[in-house]
Amino acid sequence: MRRRLLVMLGKGGVGRSAVTAALALLSSRRGQSTLVIEADPRAPIAGAWGGRPSFEPLELAPNLSAMMLGGQESLEQYLSIVAPRAVLRAVFRSRIYQYFVHAAPAVRELTMMGKVFHEIERREAPLKPWDLVIFDAPASGQALSMIRTPFAAGGAFGDSVAGREARNIATLLSDFARCGIVAVTTAETLAVAETLELGHAVGELEIRLAAAFFNRAIDARFTAADIVRAGRLAERDAALGGVEDLAEIARGAIRRRTRDRRAFELLRRRLDCGVVEVAERRGAAGIELYDNLARRLAAELPPEGGLGTAAPG
Ligand SMILES: Nc1ncnc2c1ncn2[C@@H]1O[C@H](COP(=O)(O)OP(=O)(O)OP(=O)(O)O)[C@@H](O)[C@H]1O
Ligand SMILES: [Mg+2]
Repeated sequence: MRRRLLVMLGKGGVGRSAVTAALALLSSRRGQSTLVIEADPRAPIAGAWGGRPSFEPLELAPNLSAMMLGGQESLEQYLSIVAPRAVLRAVFRSRIYQYFVHAAPAVRELTMMGKVFHEIERREAPLKPWDLVIFDAPASGQALSMIRTPFAAGGAFGDSVAGREARNIATLLSDFARCGIVAVTTAETLAVAETLELGHAVGELEIRLAAAFFNRAIDARFTAADIVRAGRLAERDAALGGVEDLAEIARGAIRRRTRDRRAFELLRRRLDCGVVEVAERRGAAGIELYDNLARRLAAELPPEGGLGTAAPG
């Protein structure tokens, strides 16, 4: 939370956006001017506050803004920051450019990272710099190439504008004090596997994960002893109905909890970073969910930094 940039990565549907929004809320409530950058064209986070998808930062709440990254839109917006407008108008119309943008996904990915970088490093006065930018990146595969591209392009593009920009971005991504690469996962086997792979993939770029969020962990409401006790009650009092059904629900919850704990321990052992549990808030969505998660995370993420790494209870 003390960094300038958090890049949120994870398999599709694990709750990247929910955790991003919760962290952003927490950061904004602690008085940091916070920008969420959404790669998702549906802009679910801005949408939760009733904001429409916008390529410019849009204020959602005090200290909290959001903007969206488009593929080609952000390329053109970004190019207009680094090159003269008249030149660009001609470029954008040219067929070669159109072909290039569609044929070379690396260009799109590099410029998306370029836009993120720009919001952090090149925001022009009178606009104040953001204290924290949280990037809700695309799902794992594309996000990984987004992170790899600046490293590859930094070498390939040599001493050109693109090469220098790529190296600047790679330097920021590698700076553990300024940039945190964060994984979001659930206990689901595939999500855990992708998270371990992610740790490995960023490791190859000599980047260490800053944290992992273990989302949708269920609260331990029952123990095996509760089930035994309920069974005894039912034996003693034949009028008690539904005890067997309740016991089955409790057994299901215990099984899920056991699976959660195994996955959590695996992540803690195999990842070189703190793992933070985020509880399942069944039935909540949008701002209500984000607010709920933010309140819970406040205790896990002290303002002075450092991660809670307590095992699930
Ligand atoms: N801790 C939670 N408790 C309850 N519901 C949650 C929690 N986290 C996420 N959800 C719900 O799960 C769904 C997926 O979450 P979210 O959209 O944040 O995932 P995502 O990883 O951003 O998905 P995508 O890959 O589509 O961008 C949403 O309906 C969200 O409200
Ligand atoms: Mg999302």
